[in-house]
Amino acid sequence: MRKMLGLVLLCGLLVLTLAFYACGSKQGEKKLEVFSWWTAGGEAEGLEAMRKIFINQNPDVEFINATVAGGAGSNAQAVLATRMQGGSPPDTFQVHAGLELIGSWVVAGAMEPLNFLFEENDWMSVYPQGVIEIISQDHKIYSVPVNIHRSNVLWYNKAIFNKFGLDPPETLDDFFTVAEVLADEGITPLALGDNGIWAATHLFENILLGALGPEKYKGLWTGKVKWDSADVKAALKTFVKVLGYVNTDHAALSWDGAAQYVIDGKCAMTVMGDWAHGYFKAKGLKPGVDYGWMPSPGTIGAFNMLSDSFGLPKNAPHRKIAIKWLTVCGSKAGQDAFNPIKGSIPARTDADRNLYDAYLLSAMNDFSSDTIVPSCAHGAAAAQSWVTKIHDVMSIFVAEKDVEKAAREFQAAASRFANK
Ligand code: GAL
Repeated sequence: MRKMLGLVLLCGLLVLTLAFYACGSKQGEKKLEVFSWWTAGGEAEGLEAMRKIFINQNPDVEFINATVAGGAGSNAQAVLATRMQGGSPPDTFQVHAGLELIGSWVVAGAMEPLNFLFEENDWMSVYPQGVIEIISQDHKIYSVPVNIHRSNVLWYNKAIFNKFGLDPPETLDDFFTVAEVLADEGITPLALGDNGIWAATHLFENILLGALGPEKYKGLWTGKVKWDSADVKAALKTFVKVLGYVNTDHAALSWDGAAQYVIDGKCAMTVMGDWAHGYFKAKGLKPGVDYGWMPSPGTIGAFNMLSDSFGLPKNAPHRKIAIKWLTVCGSKAGQDAFNPIKGSIPARTDADRNLYDAYLLSAMNDFSSDTIVPSCAHGAAAAQSWVTKIHDVMSIFVAEKDVEKAAREFQAAASRFANK
């Protein structure tokens, strides 16, 4: 009798365990939840191009496009953190290559290594070594990069520049000369949309790069260059001067709203990553005809880089299907469909160059010859905790413009977080 009872109990336990795993893992379901912040013009269409490839290959899978609007992940990252901490990760999520991935999610032990995928698909030979390094920790690879974006680009309205016989500014001094002419003509020189504070950090990181040069800029992230040094204080003063030439409603505007001001001729220029190129194209503008580009003032010869990638969180509900998505992300076909629309260059080195326009070809050339530096606002240079602190200091700085205070607080954050 006792034996019988034991057997019944054991069977019951087994059934319960199986039921638990069946519900918890959802591995039987044909679904894929892809989490990102790509909702604006250019980025949404780029994602759609990859979705189409995936669905062609996996017609029976329900694709859940889980986006949280807000440039640079300003809202998405908080939602993601809540989900990850609450034990309900999406199947895969957008994450910047570099310290946003390694210093945050990998350190937390939340990601699955993907070496097997790189080996199976022979990706080790098509991804640049430098890209593999920034997505790796202890020889384990943690995400699949889909692109390389450039942060330090100045975009300008060609009609306005032609009308006033202006050349796009190469240096910070040139910028102020051009800005003065435009302001005298009643045109707001620079469009800024920092309703997500990252856009102010984005502008400042490129002023820092222009003012300090690539080597000192890199030193800011390793602790070699102090944030309260005379160089950084001078860059902060330059930043204040630049802010004197931006649209008065910048705090209410998004990055794509600022790009739209350039299209509409309300402003003449904007400093934004090359997803703005994707935006302009999505709005029907012709690159080189309606708008032009230049490395942001003072940064010729430097490529401020970031990379969007997708990772596989531990306990992804539909792990096998997520791996199929990651396979599309890493494929030549996936990247050649996505990047010409997104405004980025492929992370792979074997792209079909015929598919890329004049701007993107110039970006490919610059990426292979310029000094590469990591973007802060887009997760390449610093872990999320440090970037969040930088944004906090920036929010107050944009309002108060207190150079000494900001330099002190930036340095305090660097002392705590710098990547030694
Ligand atoms: C960046 C991201 C880009 C683009 C941009 C604006 O952080 O890497 O792909 O989406 O934000 O949302």
